[in-house]
Amino acid sequence: MANQQILLIVSGGIAAYRSLDIARRLRERGVAVRMLLTRAAEEFITPLSATVLSGQAAMTDLFSPENEADIGHIELSRSADLLLVAPASADLLAKMANGLADDLASTVLLATDTPVLVAPAMNVRMWEHSATRRNVNQLRADGIGFIGPDDGAMACGEFGPGRLAEVDAIVDAATSMLGAHVQKDGEPATKTSDTTDLLDGNKILVTAGPTHEPIDPVRYIANRSSGKQGYAIAAAAARAGAEVTLVSGPTALATPPGVRRVDVESARDMQAAVVEALSDGHPFDAGIFAAAVADWRTADIAEEKMKKRAGAEVPPPFDLIANPDILAEVARDTALRPHMLVGFAAETQDVVANAEQKLSRKQCDLIVANDVSSSGALAEGEVMGGDRNRVHLVSKSAVETWAEADKTVIAERLVEHIAHFLDMRSGKRNSRPASRQRATKQAAE
Ligand code: C5P
Repeated sequence: MANQQILLIVSGGIAAYRSLDIARRLRERGVAVRMLLTRAAEEFITPLSATVLSGQAAMTDLFSPENEADIGHIELSRSADLLLVAPASADLLAKMANGLADDLASTVLLATDTPVLVAPAMNVRMWEHSATRRNVNQLRADGIGFIGPDDGAMACGEFGPGRLAEVDAIVDAATSMLGAHVQKDGEPATKTSDTTDLLDGNKILVTAGPTHEPIDPVRYIANRSSGKQGYAIAAAAARAGAEVTLVSGPTALATPPGVRRVDVESARDMQAAVVEALSDGHPFDAGIFAAAVADWRTADIAEEKMKKRAGAEVPPPFDLIANPDILAEVARDTALRPHMLVGFAAETQDVVANAEQKLSRKQCDLIVANDVSSSGALAEGEVMGGDRNRVHLVSKSAVETWAEADKTVIAERLVEHIAHFLDMRSGKRNSRPASRQRATKQAAE
């Protein structure tokens, strides 16, 4: 991990002392670390211990002539490969979610164009407060990666989610977000996760979320998809410079910055929106179909709310009919088909074998498959609606299994993978700037 640098931002809280261990462990893995302490963090650890353990002068003050002369705050926000906020207090999350910049940490976080990973730590009631929930949702939609918090006994004597994640887990997440393979056996790992400009000039369509299939004016058939993975992909593609159209079923998520969003409700609405977007003159470079489209809808939609019938225990009958397979139809239509088509497969059994069949049945270039069964790496319900994912990438030539990671991290890596595919297809690979070639090469490994 030579030349990789993490800026470790420490905010106030009893868990601040563990940032010193995080710095030490990152350095053991060959990552250079510079630490930045908020004023509240200085109540728990000193700049001197941060300087000694990180091996670089710790930064504290936005208006310090020494800090500015050493490295200006704008340069500080750009020179690192990753910004890691550990611990992240409720206050710092709120500042980040609202774009406040009134001290060195929040200013650097607002000025950066570098990936950011946060490890929250706070009292359980603060973590569960609706204001913090809103801020966390906003930050996730903005593409910020999260690790933790963990459940457990807290320094304040309460119990619940709010503990800083384990140091090992934070260091693993940070190194994986750096894109670096964790340094083992002294092997240097060199991958960068800087995807800036990787999809510059590319047009990308993403579908996300569930669809709602109306039964009557108040009822519908739906599924548990939250849309988080698709939104994270749209956000990552936009950060990589693509022009992104996001066709979204009903979700509670905010539109990622720079993304054009088209809201739809049913599968047929989604099909119409996808066809309309793809008919827009220039061919799309990639279509990423992350939506969990309902397979069936009712044959008829009742115009009035269906009434309970006499003897209420007898439910009204309704017939189901198949929805159009949007992905398969786009794949078959040469006038619409983007250069690269990526499908998703949520499976509960034979994940890879089913994904391989789906790849050929739907004529895609890649299937991103995840195991949503209770026997999978993540427990049932943790993938659909959750923040983490574990996927297999199934193409005609290979099956890659990626380590479990935050959906934002999976999205970043997928964007690198897509950029690599598009480069290989167009033979442009050697014309990319060196930084982009490095990122795409690593994505293929
Ligand atoms: O067949 P299955 O639903 O497992 O296929 C999943 C993939 O196909 C996803 O990429 C999904 O977005 C897409 N799909 C679709 N239209 C459907 C069903 C699935 O585009 N009606």
